[in-house]
Amino acid sequence: MAVPQREAGEVMVRVRAASLNFPDLLMTRGAYQFKPEPPFTAGMELAGEVVEADETSGFAVGDRVMGGAKTGAFAALASVPASTLTPIPEAFDFIQGAAMGAAYSTAYTGLVELCDLKPGQWVLVQGASGGVGLAVCDLARTLGANVIAATGVATKIEAIDKAVQPDAVILAKGRFRERVAELTGGRLCDIVLDPVGGDVFDESTRCVAFGGKLVVAGFTSGRIAEIATNIPLIKGFSIVGLRAGEYARRFPERGDAIRKAIADLAEAKRISPTIDRVLPLSQWREGYEAMRNRELVGKVIFQPNG
Ligand SMILES: NC(=O)c1ccc[n+]([C@@H]2O[C@H](COP(=O)([O-])OP(=O)(O)OC[C@H]3O[C@@H](n4cnc5c(N)ncnc54)[C@H](OP(=O)(O)O)[C@@H]3O)[C@@H](O)[C@H]2O)c1
Repeated sequence: MAVPQREAGEVMVRVRAASLNFPDLLMTRGAYQFKPEPPFTAGMELAGEVVEADETSGFAVGDRVMGGAKTGAFAALASVPASTLTPIPEAFDFIQGAAMGAAYSTAYTGLVELCDLKPGQWVLVQGASGGVGLAVCDLARTLGANVIAATGVATKIEAIDKAVQPDAVILAKGRFRERVAELTGGRLCDIVLDPVGGDVFDESTRCVAFGGKLVVAGFTSGRIAEIATNIPLIKGFSIVGLRAGEYARRFPERGDAIRKAIADLAEAKRISPTIDRVLPLSQWREGYEAMRNRELVGKVIFQPNG
């Protein structure tokens, strides 16, 4: 691909690290809601150094930044809207910077903006080994919630426990409601965040407390679940649609506040992303395959010059 042209409002970044997100996998199959015309440069999340910027952008050549756009991050140079960029927290390197934004802004939007999370509430996190899942566990715990991490793969339980130290890690297979009821003393969960869908969503509807919220975040299982509307009525819970990127675009001042809140928590070392592996960009295929085969506990990072 040619070096991208910098458009108005954009900043040119020399990419030092970029991270793989599930939408990247879907986009290469034409299975994501945003369908770029091939050929395109994949990758929505990066960290690097500013090499070209307008004065009005708020960034200067040499600044360490993290952020991204819908595509373009898996390259040596990426031209990115200035509005999506934030300085990398001092405490973080490029790898951690590249792993932060998408997962933690999704976690923050879901937990804080949409569900108004309060300390002491119970949060059930599905797909807990994923980038989003681990960020939700990490952030919820930091904000004082009781966290139940749920994974569909028994061999990942130990690694999830080590990475984010939730109150419990459970296997999200078959009937897991009884386990959730047992862990919460019969209360069930105030917030259930589900990026998996399918059977996991079906059983998750049985894990929400009265007055609670079931957050629909994605469909990694490949099945978009359906629900009879009498269930949320009888059980008195709400179903909440989460679109973190769109939320920040529609409410830019909230987007800025979310990015700042995450950067502050990172700077204070109260949150930090879990990295599964770092690969040279030339080995992108290994990263995509590992995500497709559900082998990961944490983020895959690509380094263009690795
Ligand atoms: N709503 C939003 O604003 C927003 C923003 C960003 C991402 N997302 C969505 O959130 C989801 C997770 O994204 P991510 O980047 O965190 O992906 P990821 O790192 O690959 O994590 C996805 C997790 O889903 C679980 N999973 C269950 N069934 C799976 C299957 N058949 N194949 C693969 N994984 C499966 C796995 O967890 P276990 O093995 O532990 O069960 C896996 O680790 C995606 O659907 C993505 O589109 C939503």
